[in-house]
Amino acid sequence: MTREVPVGVADELAPGQRKLVFVDGRSIVLFNIDGQMHAVDNSCPHNGASLASGPLEGCMLRCPAHGLRFDVRSGCMPGAGGLKLTTFPVRTVEGKLLLSVMGTPASSQA
Ligand code: FES
Repeated sequence: MTREVPVGVADELAPGQRKLVFVDGRSIVLFNIDGQMHAVDNSCPHNGASLASGPLEGCMLRCPAHGLRFDVRSGCMPGAGGLKLTTFPVRTVEGKLLLSVMGTPASSQA
């Protein structure tokens, strides 16, 4: 089941800014790329490093651990193939940022 979780307000991040949020025990990084919001899992698919502080060049996020680069819009590495970040749909509704995640709320999984 997919559900939407509020993670902030629409205008809190300027282009190029980011924000770390926690949803159901999962760490997710929101990015404003040229006015569009994108969300990726805060875990590098190479070896699990946190990506939240990685340098951002345009839409390309560099993992601070070993330097692999990912497009935060698609989660893909440059070129064909390679590792892929987990991405999450995020949209703005009535001034709120809503993140789409799979599953039921953590509190009801006990
Ligand atoms: S953990 Fe990210 S590049 Fe190795």
